[in-house]
Amino acid sequence: MRVELRLLQQVKPYRGLLALGLATTALASLLDGFTLVILIPLLKHLFGTSGALHAGSTRLEAWVTRLTEPLVAGLTPGAAAGRLVVLLALGLLLKNALSYASSQISVGVQEGLVRDLRTRIFDHLLSLDLNYFQRTRAGQLISYIVTEVDQTKTVITASLLSLFQNIVVVTITLAVLSQISLRLTLLTLACVPAMVYLLQSLLKRLRRHARARAKERGEVTATLTERIGAVRLIRAYGEEARESARFAAQANRYRKQVVRTQRYSSLTSPLTEVFSGFLVILIIWAGTRPALIGLGGPLAPETIIVFLIAALKLTSPLKTISSFPAVMAVTLASAERVFELLDEPATEGDRPGEGEARFEREIVFDRVSFRYGDGEPVLRDVSFSLPKGRVVALVGPSGAGKTTLADLLPRFHDPTAGVITMDGVPLTRLTRRSVRALLGVVSQDTVLLNDTVQANIAYGSPGATRDQVEAAARAANADLFIAQLPQGYETLLGERGTRLSGGQRQRIAIARALLRDPPILILDEATSALDTESERLVQQAIDRLMADRTVLVIAHRLATVRDADEIVVLDEGRVVQQGTHEQLFRAGGLYRRLYDLQFRDDEPVLAVEY
Ligand SMILES: Nc1ncnc2c1ncn2[C@@H]1O[C@H](COP(=O)(O)OP(=O)(O)O)[C@@H](O)[C@H]1O
Ligand SMILES: [Mg+2]
Repeated sequence: MRVELRLLQQVKPYRGLLALGLATTALASLLDGFTLVILIPLLKHLFGTSGALHAGSTRLEAWVTRLTEPLVAGLTPGAAAGRLVVLLALGLLLKNALSYASSQISVGVQEGLVRDLRTRIFDHLLSLDLNYFQRTRAGQLISYIVTEVDQTKTVITASLLSLFQNIVVVTITLAVLSQISLRLTLLTLACVPAMVYLLQSLLKRLRRHARARAKERGEVTATLTERIGAVRLIRAYGEEARESARFAAQANRYRKQVVRTQRYSSLTSPLTEVFSGFLVILIIWAGTRPALIGLGGPLAPETIIVFLIAALKLTSPLKTISSFPAVMAVTLASAERVFELLDEPATEGDRPGEGEARFEREIVFDRVSFRYGDGEPVLRDVSFSLPKGRVVALVGPSGAGKTTLADLLPRFHDPTAGVITMDGVPLTRLTRRSVRALLGVVSQDTVLLNDTVQANIAYGSPGATRDQVEAAARAANADLFIAQLPQGYETLLGERGTRLSGGQRQRIAIARALLRDPPILILDEATSALDTESERLVQQAIDRLMADRTVLVIAHRLATVRDADEIVVLDEGRVVQQGTHEQLFRAGGLYRRLYDLQFRDDEPVLAVEY
């Protein structure tokens, strides 16, 4: 569907408010016309020419004079002018009050539209495939939600309200003008197409450049967010100067693009300025030539003044109307980007036909294969089963596909071939929500939010009480260090939890999993990043977490792996060995090699980099 139409559709919920805005605007414009027309008798009284309709008199003059007659009958010219001034002032006040109301209404509509789009994009982001986030820079997404969406509101101010207002003003003004002299009005209007043509020729380029500008702006945001997050890295490797140069180059690319875009949009103003100048000269010249304007004599001075005021009143709305496509070009460039994002197919969310997951017996991987996008297969024909209450360990060299395999359980991805079943039902026939509700994941890089300790532990368990949170923290060996934090459980953890050590972060993550109390647990190298001291504390916590659960544990401490009910050895996406520790140890092969490597280094961890 066309972008314009889609954008208009977003306005639908506000159509009542919008109609009110349009009505207020129309009323304000009518009053504007009234204050213009009332000038004629006022000027007549001031010039002392009232009552004397001369050869060049127009229908409008006759009409207004008749209309205001009862109001000023029997008054001296001075007193009559005074009354008309009061009337003029009242009209002016009311007109501006209405204009104010209409602009407030338009702000209400446009900000509502922006909020709606913003929340829709955010919700949509939450439902996109994980791959999308790997393809897209976070800063570009932030720029979508912050800047691009904001730009789309111009569709309300520029398009609906302002365009409408100006059309009404132009119509009323033209009515006034043509009542003074139809021919002079037509002459004036004959100049308009030339201006519109000039403006139009700018627009195509403007839209293209506006789109490029939006992209550059996104790049600036993206670089900023990434580099701010990597400030320790930059410092540690002394990359400040290079980063500075890189950012300066980026900022400069953005500057160039803004200047290029502005080059076209700034041209509209001088064009119309010159145009109005010519118009004034034309009107004065033609207004004093009776033959040209088709009246018995030249226009009275007061009529020419009113005509000039009215004609000049036209230029601003005409300018707005003709630059409307320019403004819309920028808006539509932004809207296009917004809709592109909204059109990214969502993979998340529950589908019709998907049932609720239940786990009583076992999870089975049956000849599961998987590849990312069009890449090489990362998992090939993987088969094993995870019976309820058992522990299966997954070991293998780095890059073997262990994390990928673990990601298939919560349906972060679905297998490209083969099937994973839970109690015999394929996972793809179960809602993601119900499958994930059964799972707890603790991985090597724990994700903490910039929130309190309490909120981080209770994340995903909204109903948890303080007592439950504290019990989970105790079981996770986290209570002691939490007590030492300045505000205990109310301490803010800072951006990505940076105020905690690796082992402390890990224990918060374990407390989080404990609180959620999932029947199935996935441990992905949960202790491999830790030093021996915190590892003991974390290990103790993990042992408590594993109790009475079904566990898939990846490349963990040897002790855990050795005690596992079954060990699956993965290499280059294939299962190369499978069995208990005793069996695999005796069989030699990859498991034995990994085991020996661990022993030689006296490092009780089975995550090995080749
Ligand atoms: N999002 C991704 N897109 C493309 N390839 C990926 C992605 N994640 C991992 N891979 C690739 O898949 C393979 C297995 O990775 P992974 O499952 O993380 O291994 P492991 O956890 O065993 O170290 C690696 O070759 C890795 O480069
Ligand atoms: Mg991994």
